[in-house]
Amino acid sequence: MVTEDEAMGRAIALAARGLGTTSPNPVVGCLLLSADGEVVGEGFHAYAGGPHAEIVALAQAGERARGGTAVVTLEPCNHTGRTGPCVKALVAAGIRRVVIAVDDPNPAAAGGAAALRAAGVEVVTGFHRPEAEEGNVAWLTAVRRGRPYVTWKFAATLDGRSAAADGTSQWITSAPARTDVHTLRSTVDAIVVGVGTVLADDPQLTVRDLRDGSLAITQPLRVVVDSAGRTPPTARVRDASAPTWIATAAELGTGPDGRADLSALLTTLYARGVRAVLLEGGPTLAGAFLAAGLVDRVIGYVAPKLLGAGLSALVDAGVATIGEAIDLELTDITQVGTDLRFTATLRQKEA
Ligand SMILES: NC(=O)c1ccc[n+]([C@@H]2O[C@H](COP(=O)([O-])OP(=O)(O)OC[C@H]3O[C@@H](n4cnc5c(N)ncnc54)[C@H](OP(=O)(O)O)[C@@H]3O)[C@@H](O)[C@H]2O)c1
Repeated sequence: MVTEDEAMGRAIALAARGLGTTSPNPVVGCLLLSADGEVVGEGFHAYAGGPHAEIVALAQAGERARGGTAVVTLEPCNHTGRTGPCVKALVAAGIRRVVIAVDDPNPAAAGGAAALRAAGVEVVTGFHRPEAEEGNVAWLTAVRRGRPYVTWKFAATLDGRSAAADGTSQWITSAPARTDVHTLRSTVDAIVVGVGTVLADDPQLTVRDLRDGSLAITQPLRVVVDSAGRTPPTARVRDASAPTWIATAAELGTGPDGRADLSALLTTLYARGVRAVLLEGGPTLAGAFLAAGLVDRVIGYVAPKLLGAGLSALVDAGVATIGEAIDLELTDITQVGTDLRFTATLRQKEA
């Protein structure tokens, strides 16, 4: 027998298994409890076009769902998209009570709670909402703003350098930190870098399997922001291991500085179904994103090394004086290998 609190904790953990593969859909987890509180089904949404979490759980439970409770991280949908409405399936299965963490902000899919109530089902909303919102933060933020959620990730020495004076920058951080970055990449839909990073480092920007080094099945879109199309034809980012978009000013138009327009970049990515972006630099592009207010979260890996000279982790971010410093809210510090990983969020004005 599990409590509804425990069931929601499990549903949130299940939902996270869909990170990186469900866009443009959210991640969702669902647990079904029988009338006497036994877990009779569980499911998560694994990929867009695939069955929703509730449907997976109902299929598992079969007749045992009758009279039971559904515990779901997001309001069940009431519309027919690529799959049928979950509300109908829950009612047909005889579910008596539905416990929901987060209301669906997407107008096309909302109305599930009201439809369930209209069908005589007892509905609770807002149950463990903060934890569930945290698990779906990229999707929720993206839908509310109409642009992808952007995480800027960087690696630096303790004195804030991201490359040495001669331009070399590889392996600033320890192997566990680099493995951690592959996990992070596996949760996003697109990895974005500036052409400067491609010219300096020729990165491949793929997700490698964390156990054997082979390529993961699902690869994020690789995006090079390259105003004038300087990415060499032989660049590794152009290889066949993942889809790639060389985003030029010809396609995006230009911002006030004459370079590729970053708002247009994000709008285009959103239209392509991208909800979570990992901005991997370098310092010039990251500065431009920050100056434009287009970063939501920062993850910095700081290595216990000193360089004293070389490229700063961040160049011009539109800050001229200390009063204009970009304030972050620190949400986590974790030691990864010999490095420290700082996670912090930026407060953005709601659109
Ligand atoms: N340690 C780390 O975490 C890390 C991560 C990445 C890179 N790096 C290091 O960073 C160095 C490269 O630095 P970088 O600053 O040249 O790289 P970058 O930020 O990746 O690329 C900068 C280039 O992006 C292009 N760009 C296109 N649109 C832009 C816009 N709206 N605003 C700003 N830039 C735009 C610009 O070239 P166009 O005007 O031609 O488009 C610009 O020169 C390398 O040494 C690399 O190793 C370190």
